[in-house]
Amino acid sequence: MGISFPEGFLWGAAGSAHQIEGNNVASDLWALESRLPERSGDACDSYHRWPEDLDIVRDLGLGAYRFSVEWARIEPVEGEVSRAQLAHYRRIVDGCLERGLVPVVTLHHFTSPLWFQREGGWLADAAVDRFRRYVRAVLPILDGVPWVCTINEPNMVAMTAKAIKEGRREEGVAGAMAAPDQALADALIAAHRAAREELGAAGLRSGWTIANQNFEAVDGARAERDAWAWPREEQFLEAAKGDDFVGVQAYTRVRIGRDGALPVPDGARRTLMGWEFYPEALADAVRHTARLLPGVPILVTENGVATADDAERVEYTRAALAGLHAAIAEGADVRGYLHWSLLDNYEWGSWAPTFGLVEVDRETFARTVKPSARWLGDVARANAL
Ligand code: FCB
Repeated sequence: MGISFPEGFLWGAAGSAHQIEGNNVASDLWALESRLPERSGDACDSYHRWPEDLDIVRDLGLGAYRFSVEWARIEPVEGEVSRAQLAHYRRIVDGCLERGLVPVVTLHHFTSPLWFQREGGWLADAAVDRFRRYVRAVLPILDGVPWVCTINEPNMVAMTAKAIKEGRREEGVAGAMAAPDQALADALIAAHRAAREELGAAGLRSGWTIANQNFEAVDGARAERDAWAWPREEQFLEAAKGDDFVGVQAYTRVRIGRDGALPVPDGARRTLMGWEFYPEALADAVRHTARLLPGVPILVTENGVATADDAERVEYTRAALAGLHAAIAEGADVRGYLHWSLLDNYEWGSWAPTFGLVEVDRETFARTVKPSARWLGDVARANAL
């Protein structure tokens, strides 16, 4: 007998528009990619091949698919909403429903339209109104979507924006980055609230998805840990109080000493991201989120590992799910698990870190299902490890 998950537990896989669609030419990142090691280019061509992706998810036995709609396509020029792009994304929602897959839709996953960036990004006076207007434009295609994520990893967005502004390319784990400007954090929180207002008025359940870094105090540096965690993570969790759900995204941990984030210890096992191989991260993140947000249902919206060794992906995921099961047994209200990611996709500047359950040929776009995908599908069908 395996260890069973709650009845109705959602099993799925995730991706995001810029990382899989290809040619997201009106976005801010497209313009910036010449400064990155690799460009997204055609990506996985999921803009055209999404039916094939959905077929794979269904055939594996998974029940949910998380994807994002791309603001830069929907509103490529300020105030000009593309009906055709909205219809495109509605077809994906319908494609999920027709296949019996639960669509989990993210409205903002890291990229913004280039015009929005040029007009001052999240720091512009009009930023929140602009985001609200975009959310309103998307509302009609969200009918039947039970999980709407407003902004993906606002804590990462805030920290990355600061790094870009200062011309730094951050390496290593997100949790070791410089704290975001508070004005940026405040703007993102206000944008989330505005989006929730619009979505709630339309009867849609929404939340946002936080990058959980699992900050751990080392050598008694508890106060330093708390001071480190607040601007980089906990203020964003706090802002999810009263939301319909919160998305937990966890990959690794970050140890905090007296002087801040410590490097991954020498000799520690690492993933292709350079992060510590630490599957316990998921249970830690769920417990932490459940403690901070009592009464808010949790959806694991991302968890996975960058590895070229698919057996290692199974090892990581099995351990992460065992931990998740334990956290649920202790009382955490977790509604589902979405693996990051469905496809080997564009990892924000590089194609090297392969997180996918499915390999994608970079020239033909042919998809090859990996054994880890079949393994996860079996877990999903059994609803048990
Ligand atoms: C998260 C992002 C996701 C992906 C994974 C590895 O921070 O939300 O797009 O890059 O990390």
